[in-house]
Amino acid sequence: MEKLVSLCKRRGFVFQSSEIYGGLNGAWDYGPLGVELLRNIKQEWWGEMTRRTNVEGIDSAILMHPRVWEASGHVENFTDPMVDCRQCKARFRLDILFEETSLKKRKEVLRAADPEKFGGQLTEETVAAEFMALADRDPAAVLTSLSCPGCGNRDTFTEARKFNLMFKTFVGPVEDSGNVVYLRPETAQGIFVNFLNVQSAGRQKVPFGIAQIGKAFRNEINTKNFLFRTREFEQMEMQFFVKPGSDDEWFEYWRNERMNWFTGLGMSKDTLRWHRHAPDKLAHYAKDAYDIEYLFPFGWGEVEGVHNRTDFDLTRHEEYSGKSMKYFDEAAKEKFTPYIIETSAGASRSFMAFLVNAYHEEEAPTAEGGSEKRVVMKFHPRLAPVKAAVFPLVNRDGMPEAARAIEEALRGRLATFYDDSGAVGRRYRRQDEIGTPWCITVDTQTLADRSVTVRERDSMVQERVASEKLLSYLTDKIG
Ligand code: GAP
Repeated sequence: MEKLVSLCKRRGFVFQSSEIYGGLNGAWDYGPLGVELLRNIKQEWWGEMTRRTNVEGIDSAILMHPRVWEASGHVENFTDPMVDCRQCKARFRLDILFEETSLKKRKEVLRAADPEKFGGQLTEETVAAEFMALADRDPAAVLTSLSCPGCGNRDTFTEARKFNLMFKTFVGPVEDSGNVVYLRPETAQGIFVNFLNVQSAGRQKVPFGIAQIGKAFRNEINTKNFLFRTREFEQMEMQFFVKPGSDDEWFEYWRNERMNWFTGLGMSKDTLRWHRHAPDKLAHYAKDAYDIEYLFPFGWGEVEGVHNRTDFDLTRHEEYSGKSMKYFDEAAKEKFTPYIIETSAGASRSFMAFLVNAYHEEEAPTAEGGSEKRVVMKFHPRLAPVKAAVFPLVNRDGMPEAARAIEEALRGRLATFYDDSGAVGRRYRRQDEIGTPWCITVDTQTLADRSVTVRERDSMVQERVASEKLLSYLTDKIG
């Protein structure tokens, strides 16, 4: 992770927000290459959704009527239990505090709680399970035995309290409780409340879906692991409205489609897995829920959820707004509240997963016949922020002019980069590090027959291609 974070900063993928002021936790800025990579990921997702005649797009407002968040359950339930340290005033999420307790400490806590039961030899699994069970049953008792990770003092935690993760602000000039609005913690609600607008404007029939990409905000207590858990992030959500009874089939359909999207963009299958929510851990509205998890350097983490949300959302909005959210099926002459199959991906989290997936260190041959270490970002060509770099072999004999002309001709159609500084080997390394799939070199032969060498990033194999055919050669390969 450290290597990746440092590459991201050095090469302009991601910068810390407000860095010159010491940074702001949980917020990140996307640099020139990062913004291109993120746009490509979002573009791939958007195209994948809206290429279907039964999926419409939408871009709803971040600020919504506060009743939306009462209906959705966020005002009441979108909370994390948290504790404060009385000494150093640091705040911690209770579940994370427990999760991060060491094995040794867990054993100690169990032995103190029940010396007879936990006095003997215990396996790691038993300690883990029994400790979490005790923490669930009696969190206060466990807390008294733990030390604050901030200042190291023991028995300094306050009682656990619920902390709502929504950011609050006020509409208009008066900061009054009647004017409270929230920054949306998910894009999904903007879709639910527009269900009938989109259905009638798009003349859609159930089953159909609505897709949206946009910012979401959560006042996470613990932001961590770079872009994994941040306070401001982007989501790519699609809600698919189906007739009750057909929901299980659509659920399986979308699970399949979503996993294929990640693998189709170059993620290796052994770094992705499904995590099914246990029945007792399902959200109150969900009938079934799976997460797509990616194997990050710090372990498995969710990148997308595929959930069967039943008719919960539309029913609640009908109840809270007093407006019917039912669909009228013309053919069957019947009214019903559709079930919703949700696919909810984090754009920022997927961005990080694609970065991790692309990062490789390997040996590459040098011009002198030796080898050297290269860092290469093996992005899928459609995701790569720069598609082709163009180099003159040397800065004389008309090669720079010819290379410039080629680069300019490609630029209108593809993201390109011109580089004439340093040895060609070094220029290859610089492009490998940002994941440019093709490097085009203008050499002496180009001046004679207008052909160039095209070097492919992963295999490092070079081919000669006529410069007039470069654009179609590259676009064919990108697909
Ligand atoms: N509408 C359902 C929903 O929002 P979620 O599991 O809370 O479900 C969906 O979020 C996705 O949004 C997650 O899989 C993750 O990729 C992303 N996400 C959620 N919280 C995030 C955070 N604090 N930072 C970055 N991404 C986040």
